[in-house]
Amino acid sequence: MVYTEEDDLKYQQALKDKIAHLRKEKNAVILAHNYQRPEVQDVADIRGDSLALAQAAIRTDAKIIVLCGVHFMAEIASILNPAKKVLLPVEVAGCPASDMITVKELRVKKDEHPDASVVCYVNSSAAVKAESDVCCTSANAIEVVKSLSNRKIIFVPDKNLGLYVKSHVKEKEIITWRGVCPTHVRVSLEEVLEAKEKYPDAEFIAHPECEMKVLKKANFIGGTGGMLKYVKSSPAKRFIIGTERGLIHRLKMENPEKEFFSPSRHFICADMKLTTLGWVTHALELEVHEVKVPEGVRLKAKKSLDRMLEITENNFAQKR
Ligand code: 13P
Repeated sequence: MVYTEEDDLKYQQALKDKIAHLRKEKNAVILAHNYQRPEVQDVADIRGDSLALAQAAIRTDAKIIVLCGVHFMAEIASILNPAKKVLLPVEVAGCPASDMITVKELRVKKDEHPDASVVCYVNSSAAVKAESDVCCTSANAIEVVKSLSNRKIIFVPDKNLGLYVKSHVKEKEIITWRGVCPTHVRVSLEEVLEAKEKYPDAEFIAHPECEMKVLKKANFIGGTGGMLKYVKSSPAKRFIIGTERGLIHRLKMENPEKEFFSPSRHFICADMKLTTLGWVTHALELEVHEVKVPEGVRLKAKKSLDRMLEITENNFAQKR
């Protein structure tokens, strides 16, 4: 017997039907990050960037949250909503950048700069968040840093995002860490230039986790949520996407008349792609792979997340 593409589609549809049934039966909500596989994004109730997923986790009244993303995202949902069962379909889906700093290392850095505030990127463990003053995402990093009264800031763990913030907030002394996103740093300047040459009419938009030499070539820099908004509002018809390729699915869905190109075959986050419809079904059916944060750590990490959400909401209210 041969297994055809048609069989594959039938199998996917059967899983989608099962997920729809389980979601209703168990009062679950499915949240998916913009880098998830297209078919996983398609079954989600809410798709979004790290900030949108955190906000959705607070608002939901579902009993179970299935977080299709990586470990730190499920931790955030659980920190903000401890009464809910938060499931991460693939237990080992992690974020290499978030593992590039430990609490011990951060404490050493804090001892070296006792007069500094600590800002941690959401791509960090709950324990590192607990050790920080305030959290930020790529959507609000600049406003979070600007909002602090302290002049000296330790920014962890993503060096490129830290340097990008530094280039926008000249009034602060920003001490960056050595962490990087292995997916975003693999795209080279040569690849970007090649793509620009091939599609001269296209705009290049990039995530601030890319290296500065790449960012310098961008028409727009922002997190995945910012990129989605930018593409919608831009009169351009073609775009070179400087981030993980999963975003292209959503961009195509929301802008069917526009064209999108990836500058690099390396723009795939292996961890984000671990989640499949099969694993979502498995987690939901058996209610396994629950993510919980020890209460002492949770309360401290929640403070740094709450502070970020407050700053973001205040700024949003002021802009309205
Ligand atoms: P966004 O918050 O921009 O979606 O980014 C999340 C992330 O993990 C980037 O690598």
